[in-house]
Amino acid sequence: MQISITTKSLQEWSGAVLLVGVLEEELQNQLKQIGLDCDHEIEQKLKINNFNAKREETTTLQLFSEKNEKLILVGLGTKKDLSLNYLRKAIANAIRGCISFNGSLGIFIPWEELNSAVTAEEIAIAARLSLYKDETYRSKPEPRSLPTKIQLIGISKETNYSEINVSSVCEGVELARELVNAPANHLTPSKLADIATNITQGSKLDLKILDKEACIELGMGAYIAVSQGSDLDPKFIHLTFRPQGEIKKRIAIIGKGLTFDSGGYNLKVGAAQIDLMKFDMGGSAAVLGAAKAISKIEPNSIEVHFIVASCENMINGSAIHPGDIVKASNGMTIEINNTDAEGRLTLADALVYACKLKPDALVDLATLTGACVIALGDEMAGLWSNNDQLAKKLKNSADTVGEGLWRMPLQKTYREGLKSLLADIKNTGPRAGGSITAALFLEEFIDKSIPWAHIDIAGTVWSEKDKGLNAAGATGYGVRSLVNWICKLNEE
Ligand code: BES
Ligand code: MG
Ligand code: ZN
Repeated sequence: MQISITTKSLQEWSGAVLLVGVLEEELQNQLKQIGLDCDHEIEQKLKINNFNAKREETTTLQLFSEKNEKLILVGLGTKKDLSLNYLRKAIANAIRGCISFNGSLGIFIPWEELNSAVTAEEIAIAARLSLYKDETYRSKPEPRSLPTKIQLIGISKETNYSEINVSSVCEGVELARELVNAPANHLTPSKLADIATNITQGSKLDLKILDKEACIELGMGAYIAVSQGSDLDPKFIHLTFRPQGEIKKRIAIIGKGLTFDSGGYNLKVGAAQIDLMKFDMGGSAAVLGAAKAISKIEPNSIEVHFIVASCENMINGSAIHPGDIVKASNGMTIEINNTDAEGRLTLADALVYACKLKPDALVDLATLTGACVIALGDEMAGLWSNNDQLAKKLKNSADTVGEGLWRMPLQKTYREGLKSLLADIKNTGPRAGGSITAALFLEEFIDKSIPWAHIDIAGTVWSEKDKGLNAAGATGYGVRSLVNWICKLNEE
């Protein structure tokens, strides 16, 4: 669905549902603006609904005017406390709460900042993503009426708003959500490769899919070891976006792509939520979602590589045993003391592969550790980086789009926990600081001269309930930050 802006004022706009953000100090004034001032009945209703325009307050009124049928009032609190972060969540929650639309939706927010393209686009993205619901697997989807169109009302005509940016980012996030929600019997490594192939069709993206033999040829012993316990073949996916004209920067993003993680012989038991481990390809979903968005936005002068080493972590007779020693494509030998720390094994070979492309920056996203969920919960991903500038830029992008991101330390002294008796390194350190040793493990496989960042999205990939922009289930976390970061590289 396209979301547009209009210079029409609140009084001029008419449609099915009008959503108005109301400032506490402006409540009476704004009601007047909407034309509700002398309507005693409405005032009564607001009183009954206890609506004072404070934060977290929302009320819906049925109107019988000729212009609009329904009015949603969203409390914004006081003007001085207003932030984009609060706004996008409040608007998303209000739209999701309004179950029936039968026409257009207009959104009016009394905030001058909305005349900046970034802010207007962010609100538009929030509005659209709030309507997302995955009905793919229901035989009879619940009937739902969506708005026929959405407009941001009262935006200055100077605002440089881009509908393409909004729809591309949303399509990217929606794809990522769809992929993460997809169960492991529907989304296999081959299917993921097919989807990657589809994204390249009719776009400027180049496609390369390496099969098992090609990966063995490249010496990817760590990645192949994880895949060997499954009846399904691994698929190594590499998409490239090459802009026309001069290339100023080359970057690579890698996503963990485990379409299922049983844990292997260190099987996930008890509270480990094995049934949720279809989401263990959330990193790859973010990468492919970003690829889709970037292929539509077509930013200038940035070459982007999108890389996924996809497979399943399963337990057939050929599966790795705990204690196996394998060799990664940089020549390092790894003792697999825990088969459930499989993501880092697949990423190891993907990182080596990506470094050979000599990128100016390298970012990986992975549902890597339960420890990260314990540390940061489901609203904050962890960020580790060997480069302060890169970390700052990623954090900046995450802040702009409202995805929680928190920098964590690459505590070098913990590297000791990965020492192996027999091999160069083992894949699992002590329980304490488990996300940090995971990051330190990854660092062993990069070219140290390349700015690198690792984002652990184990907590943020999934939402237990409807919350802000997220519907319960897959969040599509990462797409919005990545796209923002990539597009801004241009401005440097
Ligand atoms: N995919 C999991 C991480 C995970 C756990 C993501 C819970 C989301 C929720 C990963 O492959 C894993 O199993 N990690 C282990 C590592 C451990 C064996 C060192 C973990 O976190 O328990
Ligand atoms: Mg695991
Ligand atoms: Zn995993």
